[in-house]
Amino acid sequence: MTIASVDQAIQLISSGAAAGSTCSPELAAGPWEFDAGTPGYGPGSSMGDVIPTGSPRQGALPETYRVASPEELAGRIRAAKDTLGDRVVILGHFYQRDEVLQHADFVGDSFQLAQATKSRPDAEAIVFCGVHFMAETADLLSTPAQAVILPNLAAGCSMADMADIDSVTDCWEQLEEQYGTTPDANGRVPVIPVTYMNSSAALKAFCGAHGGIVCTSSNAPAVLEWAFERGQRVLFFPDQHLGRNTAKAMGVPLNRMPMWNPHKPLGGNTAAELDAAQVVLWHGFCSVHKRFTVDQIEIARREHPGVRVIVHPECPMAVVDAADEYGSTDYIKKAIEAAPAGSTFAIGTEINLVQRLAAQHPEHTIFCLEPVICPCSTMYRIHAGYLAWVLEALVGTVDRQPVVLNRIVVPDDVAAPARTALERMLTAWPPAPARQDA
Ligand code: 13P
Ligand code: SF4
Repeated sequence: MTIASVDQAIQLISSGAAAGSTCSPELAAGPWEFDAGTPGYGPGSSMGDVIPTGSPRQGALPETYRVASPEELAGRIRAAKDTLGDRVVILGHFYQRDEVLQHADFVGDSFQLAQATKSRPDAEAIVFCGVHFMAETADLLSTPAQAVILPNLAAGCSMADMADIDSVTDCWEQLEEQYGTTPDANGRVPVIPVTYMNSSAALKAFCGAHGGIVCTSSNAPAVLEWAFERGQRVLFFPDQHLGRNTAKAMGVPLNRMPMWNPHKPLGGNTAAELDAAQVVLWHGFCSVHKRFTVDQIEIARREHPGVRVIVHPECPMAVVDAADEYGSTDYIKKAIEAAPAGSTFAIGTEINLVQRLAAQHPEHTIFCLEPVICPCSTMYRIHAGYLAWVLEALVGTVDRQPVVLNRIVVPDDVAAPARTALERMLTAWPPAPARQDA
């Protein structure tokens, strides 16, 4: 039987009560153990990535939330939600742990949740159970009166942190020097910046201010087409894999996709390589999706003849090429829902979503390509304890008066151009809305 809760599976493995393995036994501890001044993203898939200085840190979570049992926290969250009623809406990303997601009013991928933000302009508070760039996007798309709350401020995204505004601006200046700024005979500018949704609001604003656009994993081909209609080439950040996999499927040859390393002059390329480029790829990657390998796919095919292998486009190109299909989190979910009973799936994406799909679809065999349980470290920083804390603060039980904790606010000068880039994406290809679970 599949244990839907990844947290429960990790606790059982760590206590020796269940077989299996996890990448970091520290995952069995509460995330608050890693809030107090610990540098890094905490245990899980991105533990080895370098956290930029100045990344938001979470302060101490009051003891009552650290010692409460999962059942007590679930009861307190339900009670606070009942008291708040329509004043609050809880959004949850597919990669969140089940103990948190069970309380979400909307569950979806990053863009579906951004759309869900817009659907509840009446709610005073939007509690975003996801990561920092998602909460920023919710703030961009909500009304000024609404407060967007991220229950744990340390829930960043290591991939989003791999591109910062200074390095991208520096890259842009070098590209402008290389390509000039004059449009060609068809009116196409030399280069269009495209940022993955997994990026800071500052980078979305950069795209908005420079004729560029945002994309998600579900609309990247449509967005790249949009960009090629307006530009001779694209600068794509921060995920090299999504950029490469998407452009390759559109027929862009690999030798016309140089990678930009911000620590080297011309990004580590020759002027000739940059001249020939159709897509300049930033050097970022996702440490969760980097764990999937071609070997794992070969083993799955050997052990499960007829298995359908679906991976996320954040996986490296060799893995995407070896899979049967690739697509966003929502694509994976819908492919499983549409399959005839008795299908077998090997999935290459974050473990919380895979385990949940396996539990929700006992008519299929569904397993993660990687046998080691290793969630996204930053998604995992949102624990039911933090959700209970921010909700009870809204009710007034934390400070004897209602308080908005952990509000995410994008400054106005950044918000305006960032919205421009988001709106361009919406016009290019509006994805499907999130499921309402309430
Ligand atoms: P989605 O856009 O599919 O929600 O993916 C976000 C993400 O972080 C994938 O790693
Ligand atoms: Fe970021 Fe990867 Fe986690 Fe998604 S899974 S939030 S890209 S680190």
